[in-house]
Amino acid sequence: MLKETIVNLLKDVVSPTKEEIEKLLEVPPNPDLGDIAFPCFILAKQFKKNPTVIAAEIAEQLNNNQKSENINVQSQGAYINFFFKNEVWSEKLLNSILKKDFTKMEIGNNERIIIDMSSPNIAKPFGIGHLRSTMIGNALYHIYKTAGYDPVRVNHLGDWGTQFGKQITAYKRWGDPQKMEENAIHECLQLYVKFHEEAENDPELEKEARLWFKKLEDGDEEATELWKFFIELSLKEFKFMYDKLGVEFDYYLGESFYNDKMSPVVLELKEKGLLEESEGAMVVRLDEAEMPPCLILKSDGTTIYPTRDLATAIYRHEEMQGSKILYVVGAEQQLHFKQVFAVLDKMGKAWSSDCEHIPFGLMKYEGKKMSTRRGKVIFLEKVLEEAVTKATEIINEKSPELSNKNEVAEAIGIGSVIFNDLKNNRIQEVDFSLEDALNFEGETGPYVQYTYARTQSLLEKGAWDEAWINELTLTDGKHLNDQASWGLTKELMNFPNVIQHALKKNEPSVLARYVLEIAKKFNRYYNQVRINVEDENEKKTKLILTYATGKILKESIHCLGLKSPSKI
Ligand code: ARG
Repeated sequence: MLKETIVNLLKDVVSPTKEEIEKLLEVPPNPDLGDIAFPCFILAKQFKKNPTVIAAEIAEQLNNNQKSENINVQSQGAYINFFFKNEVWSEKLLNSILKKDFTKMEIGNNERIIIDMSSPNIAKPFGIGHLRSTMIGNALYHIYKTAGYDPVRVNHLGDWGTQFGKQITAYKRWGDPQKMEENAIHECLQLYVKFHEEAENDPELEKEARLWFKKLEDGDEEATELWKFFIELSLKEFKFMYDKLGVEFDYYLGESFYNDKMSPVVLELKEKGLLEESEGAMVVRLDEAEMPPCLILKSDGTTIYPTRDLATAIYRHEEMQGSKILYVVGAEQQLHFKQVFAVLDKMGKAWSSDCEHIPFGLMKYEGKKMSTRRGKVIFLEKVLEEAVTKATEIINEKSPELSNKNEVAEAIGIGSVIFNDLKNNRIQEVDFSLEDALNFEGETGPYVQYTYARTQSLLEKGAWDEAWINELTLTDGKHLNDQASWGLTKELMNFPNVIQHALKKNEPSVLARYVLEIAKKFNRYYNQVRINVEDENEKKTKLILTYATGKILKESIHCLGLKSPSKI
């Protein structure tokens, strides 16, 4: 709103177009230089004068302009600086922020965005590594939804592939039904690890595993039974985890769903002359894209990961009508996705440019790397449990009188893990430290959750009534005349821009940083200004700002996938 106002003022006196002006406007980091500044360098041609002179002249001209009432225009060097009269503009901005549709935008035209997220592998425990995909995907889902798109969450379960041959082999050789009953998924992991250890000395094992996978692909009854058994017990564990994380999916369409959709793809590749033989296997060459060939069929005729992803992409485009297809998958699969998209392109599918890999960095736990093969996986379940236990201790100490302590500890504990995962650029490695993530004074989930709870308790203390929103009038603005409230109000107003920015880069951290900023600005306000004062009008006005802060905090916290208890 502030920028638009300035664009409209300037467009009457300078020659660049509205769009050009908007691009040039700056938000000075120092409030002494105004709320918005315009650099006059590019006007030198139009006015044939020194930019400093131009800035001074325009500032004066605008100050005498009726349209700029309530805006103080000054110049400094080559810049024009605009100062909005806080008491008038606070009220304008707050009115806009408090509108119901402020946090619901319509820029997405209901376009369908397919989000491939989480996608863990069956018969392995849900490692903390898959957490990143789940939470980044979930945040993107909410961000797209807020912007008015039609996002769809798809869990592309790793429920097919040679690892099932290994899993079946290991289970048949060493599987212990008793242990399976006690803790199936962990037993599966042990078997998987044992397989790799033994296979180092016994090449027969790999052969046997390949045979079992071939049987599975050919529909053998015993292999299929065992495979189904692994899926069932894995899904049970995954769903338990998703429930804890508060994540839902619109579809579970695992790799096996595409089993009958691959031969048409292979045929199409053949017909288009793209399939070539290489050491007994069938590949698509990608020399012109300077990539290694994409493997389509292995020498024993079985399909492979890229083949399934080709069929998957085609399905998502044709059947699911995705106008964009996002793959939230670790950066280590970069080449795989480049190859798959390049093959689609070679097949003449122009929409391959609508497919995008959204990579992210590794997650370490207290400095340790994780690898499933060597059994060094850190179980997400354990991490969440630990976080909740620690959070319970903190809550017991901080607020012993709270009635729903368990619920709050769960929201805080799990929230700390999620926020820690989202707060930095996704491509960065995350080194998870429970102590840091749970620090109520750090850049953490608990810090923003606590700030939200603070807004709610202030409202409660002041006997807040939603009807007051309609009473906000121009004269009340004088109670919002300080720098802290003005800075906060301007930041709240940024919500729609932040959503757009997060979306453009597919980067939830943009929103996470924003929530931290709101929390910091609100706490500054809270520390500098007494909110629940005697004067009824003043109190109401200040609580309106508090309420607006709560609204934006809650919306943003939920977008990131955290809960927002109103009392902590
Ligand atoms: N299951 C795979 C893994 O854990 C991730 C799948 C990602 N999605 C895809 N369409 N390939 O590595």
